[in-house]
Formats: sequence, structure tokens, C-alpha cells
Amino acid sequence: MRPGELWRHSSFRLALGVTFFILATLAVVGAAGFGAMTTQLAARQDARVREIFNVFQQTQANGGQSDLIEAIGIRIKATPSRSAVYLLRDRAGKVLAGNIADIALPQGWITVPAARLGVPTDYPFRVFTGQVGPYSLTIGLTNADLDDLREIVQSAFGWAALFVLLATLVVGSLLAVRVQRRLARAEAAVARVALGDLTARLPVSGHGDDLDRMSQAINASLARLEGLVEAMRQVSADIAHDLRTPLNRLRIHIEEAARKSEAGSDSSEDLAAALAQSEAIDGTFSALLRIAQIEAGARRQKFAPVDLAALMTNAAEVYADVAEDAGHSLRCEAMTPAWVLGDKELLTQSVVNLIENAIRHCPPGATILCGVRSEGAMITAFVADTGPGIPEAERDKVLRRLYRLEKSRTTEGSGLGLALVKAVADLHDACLRLSDAGPGLRVSLTFQRTGGAIPPAARSGQAL
Ligand SMILES: Nc1ncnc2c1ncn2[C@@H]1O[C@H](COP(=O)(O)OP(=O)(O)OP(=O)(O)O)[C@@H](O)[C@H]1O
Ligand SMILES: [Mg+2]
Repeated sequence: MRPGELWRHSSFRLALGVTFFILATLAVVGAAGFGAMTTQLAARQDARVREIFNVFQQTQANGGQSDLIEAIGIRIKATPSRSAVYLLRDRAGKVLAGNIADIALPQGWITVPAARLGVPTDYPFRVFTGQVGPYSLTIGLTNADLDDLREIVQSAFGWAALFVLLATLVVGSLLAVRVQRRLARAEAAVARVALGDLTARLPVSGHGDDLDRMSQAINASLARLEGLVEAMRQVSADIAHDLRTPLNRLRIHIEEAARKSEAGSDSSEDLAAALAQSEAIDGTFSALLRIAQIEAGARRQKFAPVDLAALMTNAAEVYADVAEDAGHSLRCEAMTPAWVLGDKELLTQSVVNLIENAIRHCPPGATILCGVRSEGAMITAFVADTGPGIPEAERDKVLRRLYRLEKSRTTEGSGLGLALVKAVADLHDACLRLSDAGPGLRVSLTFQRTGGAIPPAARSGQAL
């Protein structure tokens, strides 16, 4: 990664930002602390100057001019480096003792550069001038300690800042490179998805960090999308494949009718067959659209409490004669009201599809039993028959659109009845199960009981 690119990485900018913030905070806190410390030190130095001044006042009071000059002389000798300076003048301004240049200084405190005092050092002096009896006495101490301290603190801070900045550059760059590598892999995966490869997944490092969580969320969406696209692809392929046969039949009827009318013979039978075929195709498309509409889930808004037991009884009553005509016996077992929240029309359609299947796909003489059973929080509606059943390996497949068992190819139907039941079950979060019924098939729909949704009138046993 080129240095110029580093700046474009948020992790690098963040590391740099945090460093500058920490350094700025340190500078402010350090400056405040340093200020307080130097003020304290300066006050102490001033107090020392005052102490020395008081001692000289005492000396002058006790021993007069000669003692004072002698005492100052001793002090001057004791500080050959001239870190402490003295100047004593008499009333006329004549210098009596001292180790600095003869310059005029105001009374009180003043900070004077060393050069002005004629002292060969770089540090300024803190100087006090006051009266000692009739004399004017100037005493000063160098600010060397304070200046040294300031220099030490400043250089320490400078080095620390430099070190932290360098460390930030290194750590920030490493971070940026690491994040960049992960993002580059993610970008590559997204690019593959954009090109249509829905099997591509974003990398997950396993650290459980924010990037991992985001990748996992996107991967879950991709997996779902892949499943949906695969399902759609499957459905489109199935539809294209299964509609070819009825369309071919339609074409054959039309060709036959055309041939007959050209030959001057009666083509009405073929035209009627073509019409019936086109109606069947239209019916298939309507059913397909209806399933797609149910799968879209919009009908969930129309959900209301439905008594499954009453619904099943009505359907069985309506189909009793049809079953009898086909040579079957259809009966319902005794039921108590069983309320679920759902779409009454779709639930009725589902139960009817199951009863129709039993009537249509069982050889004459079958017994068809339907019922609704409540077990705890679950309500199960079922239709069972004593027909040939569906082999276990085929039970998932018959739920697909247009799928029919080979042996049913001669019977009427388009293979959409169970697909609709499946869509309705999914819409109601119900569990659709195909199982053996001894000999025969048992199809059950298990719903979650919705106690709160039962209308008060229904609680006392009345059907809606
Ligand atoms: N009770 C049953 N006994 C035996 N086979 C069945 C039974 N119900 C369904 N099947 C098989 O499952 C296939 C799919 O059923 P589905 O209801 O989806 O379609 P269909 O009945 O053939 O046509 P449609 O319901 O669209 O008129 C049927 O073709 C049949 O082979
Ligand atoms: Mg059917």
C-alpha cells in the first residue's frame, strides 16, 4: 500500500485522530501542570531572596555598614559562579559592594537578563531591590533551575510526541493494511455476486468483530437470496417444461381442426378440444399466479379467527356426494371447535384440495377420513385415505409446482393442488406433513392455537 493511500483508510485516520487528541490533551494538561509548578518554584525563589534580604537588614541593624559589607563579601565569595548577585550602594548611589555591573535598578521585583547585569550566563535573574537602613541593596537569584526544568519538560514532551506519532504511523499503517486485506477480500466477493455468482461469500475472520458481524449478516442475506433465486430458477424450469405438453396438445388440436376444415370435413370436435385445452392452460396460469400471490404474504393482513372444525365439516359435506359418485366413502370424525388465526378462503381451498386429491388419486372403494384434533397449543387438520399413498422419496417433490407422480399422468390435474396447500401452510406458519396412513396417505396441517383471537361468542361453543 502506498503512503498516499494510507490517508484514505478510515482505520489509519482514526488512529491518527486519536493520537492527535491524546497529544493535545497531554499538551493542555502538561502546560497547566507545568505552569502551576513554575509559579510555585518562582514563589519559593522569591521567598529565599527575601530571607537573604532580611538577614542583611539584621546584620546592618546590629553591626552597621562594615558588617553589612563584610557579610555581602562573604556571600559573594561563596558563590563564585555568580548564581546569586548582590549590589550595595550608599545614599549617594556609590557602589559599596557587589558582583554585578553598576546599573540602575528600580525598587522592588524585576526579572533582568544576565547580560545586563554583566554576568556571563544565559539565564535571566530574578532581582529584588530595597532599602537596608540608609543603603540600597539589590539581591538576585538566577532562574536557571526554572529554565532547565522548562527545557527538560519541553524536550520530554517533544520526544514523547514524536515517539507516539511514529508508533501511530506504524500501528495505523499495520491496521489499515490488515483491514484493507479483509475489505479487499469482501470487495472481491461482492464483485463476484455482482457478476451473478450467488455462491460467493464474504470472509469471516472468526474474531467476532464488527466486520465479522457485517459479513455474517450479508452472507445470511446472500444465502437466502441464493435459495430464492434457485427456487425461482427451478420453478421457471418446471413451468417451462410442464407447460410444453398442454401447449403441444393445443397445437395438435388446432392443426387437426385446420387440416379438417381444409379438407372440408367437420372440425368442431377438434376446436372444442382446443378450447378445453386452452381453458386448462388458463387455469394452470391462474393457479400459478394465485400461489405466487399467496407466497408474497399480502393476504396475512386479512387474517381473522377461523374455526377449522366447522370449515372441515362444511368441506366434507360438500364433497360427500362427489366422493360417493367416485365409489369412495368420505366421513369426518367428531370434532370440537378449533380456532386458528387465518384466511378462511385459503384454508377452505387447501382442505378442498386435499379431499379432491384423495377422491381423485385413490382407486374406487377407498375410505377417506378427515378431522381436526387439538393437542395442547397445537391444532391439526388432516385428510387421510386408504389409497396408494405417495412414496417417501416423492413427498417433498409433490409439494413443488406442477409435479405429479408418473401414475397420475393419466388422471386429470395440473400438479398445483399441493403446491397451493404448501404456500397456504407457509403463510399461516403451519406445518404441512405427508405421512403413511396404514395403506394410503395422510396429509396434516398443524397450526398454533390462537386463544386470544377467539371471538367471545365462539368461546361458548358457537360456530361463526
Ligand atoms: N391422496 C393422494 N394419494 C395418492 N397420490 C396423491 C394424493 N394426493 C396427491 N397425490 C400425488 O401428488 C401429486 C400432486 O398433487 P397435486 O394436488 O399437487 O396435483 P394434482 O392433484 O395432480 O393436480 P391439481 O391438484 O393441480 O388438480 C398428484 O399428481 C398425485 O400423483
Ligand atoms: Mg390435486
